[in-house]
Amino acid sequence: RATPTSGPRVVLVGPPGAGKSTVAAALAERWQLESRDTDTDVETAAGKSVADVFVEDGEPHFRALERTAVATALGEHEGVLALGGGAVLDPATRALLQAYRDGGGVVVFLDVSLAHAAGRVGLNQSRPLLVGSPRAQWQSLMDVRRPVYEEVATVRVSTDGLRPAEVAEVIETTL
Ligand code: S3P
Repeated sequence: RATPTSGPRVVLVGPPGAGKSTVAAALAERWQLESRDTDTDVETAAGKSVADVFVEDGEPHFRALERTAVATALGEHEGVLALGGGAVLDPATRALLQAYRDGGGVVVFLDVSLAHAAGRVGLNQSRPLLVGSPRAQWQSLMDVRRPVYEEVATVRVSTDGLRPAEVAEVIETTL
């Protein structure tokens, strides 16, 4: 498989609590690259937290900011890129990922069970889509998204019971 000539070395997708940001940081450290997270890029662009964007401006506005953040990062970031858990729901974002893959890009689906996701993030109220009954909400998100994560990814790696550095090692062996 060809290494992409530009763009991220690896893109990470998966549900909240899969460990995307921490694994991105671990991979970046391993490879001496930078890690980047589209949630952070959206927060910088909006000047407020993801939760505040959802509450004050609504999910469609968040998805539009996220689409721009993904497009920009795919174009200019050469390290490890973590996407927000719902970024793959947007058709334009999926098309960008397809183009990245066509160019030899690697998209890793970080898979996780509800038990491990809940343990990792506490599935607390800071995630706007999980407010109310976090575990049930997480499971229904995952039921809808699993096929999408599988479709956009070139490889699937389960993070259950693994530390970020161990997941990074597993990902490296799949390249
Ligand atoms: C979302 C996941 C969040 C964040 C936003 C929406 C989702 O990112 O982008 O709250 O739709 O799953 P993480 O996956 O990093 O929690």
